[in-house]
Amino acid sequence: MMKKVMLIGNGAREHVIAETLKRSSHEVELYAFGKALNPGIESLSEDYRVGDYMDQDEVLNYALHVDPDFVIIGPEDPIDSGLADKLLEQGYGSVAPLQAVAKLESSKSFTRELLANHDIPGNPQFKVFTSVEGIREFMEELDGQFVVKYDGLKGGKGVKVVGDHLEGIEEGYLYAVECLEGCGQVVIEEKLIGQEFSLISFADGVSLAHMPAVQDHKRAYDGDTGPNTGGMGTYSDSNHMLPFLSEEDIATAHAMNEAVLEALRDETGTEFKGIMYGGFIATKKGVSLIEYNCRFGDPEAMNLLPILKTDFVDVCIAIIKGTLSEMEVEFENSATVCKYVVPDGYPDNPCKGDKIEVGETPNEVNIYYGSVDKKEDGLYLSGSRAIAFVGIGETLESAERLAAGAVNSVQGPVFYRTDIGTAEVIERKIAYMNELRG
Ligand code: AMP
Ligand code: GLY
Repeated sequence: MMKKVMLIGNGAREHVIAETLKRSSHEVELYAFGKALNPGIESLSEDYRVGDYMDQDEVLNYALHVDPDFVIIGPEDPIDSGLADKLLEQGYGSVAPLQAVAKLESSKSFTRELLANHDIPGNPQFKVFTSVEGIREFMEELDGQFVVKYDGLKGGKGVKVVGDHLEGIEEGYLYAVECLEGCGQVVIEEKLIGQEFSLISFADGVSLAHMPAVQDHKRAYDGDTGPNTGGMGTYSDSNHMLPFLSEEDIATAHAMNEAVLEALRDETGTEFKGIMYGGFIATKKGVSLIEYNCRFGDPEAMNLLPILKTDFVDVCIAIIKGTLSEMEVEFENSATVCKYVVPDGYPDNPCKGDKIEVGETPNEVNIYYGSVDKKEDGLYLSGSRAIAFVGIGETLESAERLAAGAVNSVQGPVFYRTDIGTAEVIERKIAYMNELRG
């Protein structure tokens, strides 16, 4: 049966969402609403509206015009602003949580306190401050090994870690004051040491279907150096684990997502329906929580959705109806490696407006457009992560080779990380975790 789906967002994450919807056995008519035209999404859509998705009335007007069967909201800002609530008032269900539970991503203190109040293990030591009183003392109590978190959405730039972005207590204190001035609250927590991974689950309010684990690379340059970015690339393995994780680590992450889903319902009376993205870290003492997001990761979505075997439209409908437990959600046993090509100077000073050429790429490589403009004579950089190349193979090695060959074919003022998903780096991560855990 024909399904009308409205998709909000215009990045590579939404491009892969669009593609996965179109792979469905249902006939899908796609209606896109984005801040800019995404050539990949446009080619899959019946109609594409360019507008401000933070303007709820504008989005709602478009929804009333389209009258979709359901909506998918890709990015966090419109979710945090309560867009799913606004759409639901008109009877449109979304694959995205309501504002009361979207706080899981937008408020760092809400999430830490949720775990603490519901005795869910996995929090580092933390304290929430509404004034400067006691901040220095707590930083000292943590032996100067702390992280300062702005208590709101800040496009991934609100978190500063000692040793990475902050030199010591003095700098940390000044940043904490800046956070207090910005949003009235700041979270200070223990700095955790280990390997990070993402464990994302489909959530229908009462039950979850877990996706394979993925590892992202936030730093701009090879060897995890340089400034933080939205994510330069990701990989996932054919057994749905990561080479440096144990089965117990994965089970802990699953259990945490499940406990949090229940805690959210108890605490707010609202069911979390959408994508629950746990950002975890495997440490010496086991798995801890770094943060939650209320949406697909970008780039993680590009690893996960192409290997989703179950019909995505059916999954979306089950999320909204609350019937996820009645179906089996399955993924192919394939390894995936995603590498983003980004403009020279990204993220601090990216070049814009330059033309790029993408070479011939084999069939096993998927291409997703991020921040690029399509003109008659080709593709142009528009300032952020430009194009994601995803290699899919039986092994990480073959997936990496595919992604590397494709991303390397791009001509223009761009760069990418050569180390993501390579055997050498993965061996190093395994050795690091073995040493950490003794
Ligand atoms: P977030 O915005 O919470 O994802 O934080 C951004 C990044 O900061 C994470 O991906 C981590 O690398 C780092 N980070 C956040 N919290 C901690 C922590 N408690 N210990 C160590 N690193 C952290
Ligand atoms: N991959 C990191 C994020 O989507 O937040």
